[in-house]
Amino acid sequence: MSFLELRGIRKTYYMNKTAFPVLKGIDLQFDRGEFVSILGESGGGKTTLMNIIGGLDAQYEGDVLLNGQSVRQISAKELDAFRRQTIGFVFQNFNLISHLSILDNVLVSLQMTGLSRHEQKERAESLLKKVGLTEHMHKHPNQLSGGQKQRVAIARALASDPDIIIADEPTGALDSQNTQEILALMDEIAADGKLVICVTHSQEVADHGTRIVHMEDGIIDHDTRLKAAFPVGEHHDLPSKHLSFTAMVKMALKHMRYNLKRNLLIIFGASIGIFSVILMLGLGRGVKGYINHEIYSQIKPTAVQVAQNTDSQDAKKLEIGQTDVNRIKKLPHVKKVELGYYGQGIQVQKDGTSATSSIFQTTTDQMLAKSVKKGHKPGTGEVILSKAFAKKFNKQHPYKLIGQKVKVSVTGMNKQHLPVVMTKSLKVSGITDDSSGQLQTNLQTVRNMYKSKKLTFRANFATVMIDSLKNVTSVQDKIKGLKADNGKKQYQLTGAGAIVSTLNTYIQLAFYVLAAIAGISLLVSAIMIIVVLYISVSERTKEIGILRALGVRRKDIRHLFLSEAFFLGLFSSLLALVFTEIVAVLANNVARNGIGYMIIDITSNYMIFGIVVAIVISLLAALAPAGQASKLDPVEALSYE
Ligand SMILES: Nc1ncnc2c1ncn2[C@@H]1O[C@H](COP(=O)(O)OP(=O)(O)OP(=O)(O)O)[C@@H](O)[C@H]1O
Ligand SMILES: [Mg+2]
Repeated sequence: MSFLELRGIRKTYYMNKTAFPVLKGIDLQFDRGEFVSILGESGGGKTTLMNIIGGLDAQYEGDVLLNGQSVRQISAKELDAFRRQTIGFVFQNFNLISHLSILDNVLVSLQMTGLSRHEQKERAESLLKKVGLTEHMHKHPNQLSGGQKQRVAIARALASDPDIIIADEPTGALDSQNTQEILALMDEIAADGKLVICVTHSQEVADHGTRIVHMEDGIIDHDTRLKAAFPVGEHHDLPSKHLSFTAMVKMALKHMRYNLKRNLLIIFGASIGIFSVILMLGLGRGVKGYINHEIYSQIKPTAVQVAQNTDSQDAKKLEIGQTDVNRIKKLPHVKKVELGYYGQGIQVQKDGTSATSSIFQTTTDQMLAKSVKKGHKPGTGEVILSKAFAKKFNKQHPYKLIGQKVKVSVTGMNKQHLPVVMTKSLKVSGITDDSSGQLQTNLQTVRNMYKSKKLTFRANFATVMIDSLKNVTSVQDKIKGLKADNGKKQYQLTGAGAIVSTLNTYIQLAFYVLAAIAGISLLVSAIMIIVVLYISVSERTKEIGILRALGVRRKDIRHLFLSEAFFLGLFSSLLALVFTEIVAVLANNVARNGIGYMIIDITSNYMIFGIVVAIVISLLAALAPAGQASKLDPVEALSYE
């Protein structure tokens, strides 16, 4: 029984249903230690036959037997293992993987053996030494001459210690000097007890071997033995395994590094999409937090301030009286209506220092205990100041003002429409935070001031308390709907409470706009990744063919592209995190100085979400190209130009 036997091999190509028979019944027997040259005219089917022997092409009639065992019936997976373990390919055009170093090219094959990592490296180095390339190990293929490249290919073919070396015109692209060196190497391989099958056009090359097989018209017409086969010693196979997931991942990383500039640009582009998503989430949360902090902490959102709908400065026209209170009280969901007074340009004096308060108003239930930083709400004869306003009197220790007296001058009008200044000494009851108005008293205090000058007090706003938050909008609408005698709107809503719902609408709107922008940039990122991976697949078609010839499985090819996509996603999201962090720090700095609040609030959940979204999108984008790559026919991929 011979080592390798071909029985009745027939192969026909079909083009538009026209049959082109290429192999018309090939019967051959090979043994180890032989150096067989296959001669024949161009287009005679030599490469076709080599692809069949090498397990790259399974579409043929007849049978290939290895040690009497048919290779034909085995599964695709076993065929991969057959190429890994039994076959070593050497091609006319070298077919090295351009983005891997010489050493790594040889290691790809070795990574599919049971050798330890250290042993793999040792074997690769000794093989490269054997072909005389020790100094060039760390170069890339494009930095080598043709002869050197072919020697790398031989080292790679020998790496997994296969029994059969198939060389398809290994010297076709070489000069005579290099041809001699390659032939000497192949001689050595055969002398080592391997079967060397070498396709050639050159009689000189063919004469070098132990046997010449001549093909003509799809059959073997001459089979000449030149000399005896080399003696075969005992042979131990290197244990074989498929390429590990980590090896594939590393190869993906190496390829990314080889195309660094392009990949960095893609990562940068994709990161913008992720960046906008994380930033938008952070901004949404920050703004919400800000509103809660700024508004809900200082006013009751269920309290709405109502004033007369007029531009007039006349106190009489501005007055909110008992009739108004009764009118509003009748509305459903209104719990309580409280009168209030606000004024502008109020003079405050203390120990010769004087300051003007632009906002002065009476406190209502709207003033929450939270806004009182120190002290308590003002009772009758008392006043509460904001911290910033208090600093006008005691820059260093504004809180020391509490308990002390200040002179407050409010200007009213007498019946003759002449201004009358009402001055009263009031005790500072406490200090509020700055956003809740500069100066506040209770209503009775203002009433007393008017009384002391015998002027008529007129409240100029009312605070309407609503039973629950969900009814605020409807009550506001009802108040806005109340008409004056002339048919115009009677009231306007003022104060922060009135704008809360409007603000919320705007925020919601802004949120959707931001979400749309972020969504679009994510989509663009995904499309970019798809395009890049598709380009990568077509760029690497040849490489995929080479890897398949080396025995790499379809699954591994898919993993290779998915790994690249995974890293594109991961790196993009990490870069996006860096960008968001920078923007958040800058924006928050500005916001803190401006409004005293960090407006971008990015939680670790958002970061994790960003990373996950980036990776999921990249992987989804990669599914189609990776699938396409893994489905490439190895023979077609190898002949891809
Ligand atoms: N994928 C294919 N589809 C159709 N026809 C093909 C295909 N591959 C090869 N052929 C045809 O089969 C014939 C044999 O091709 P093959 O490559 O095996 O020849 P060869 O002996 O290796 O030639 P050369 O010495 O020029 O390399 C040629 O006529 C070729 O056109
Ligand atoms: Mg050929």
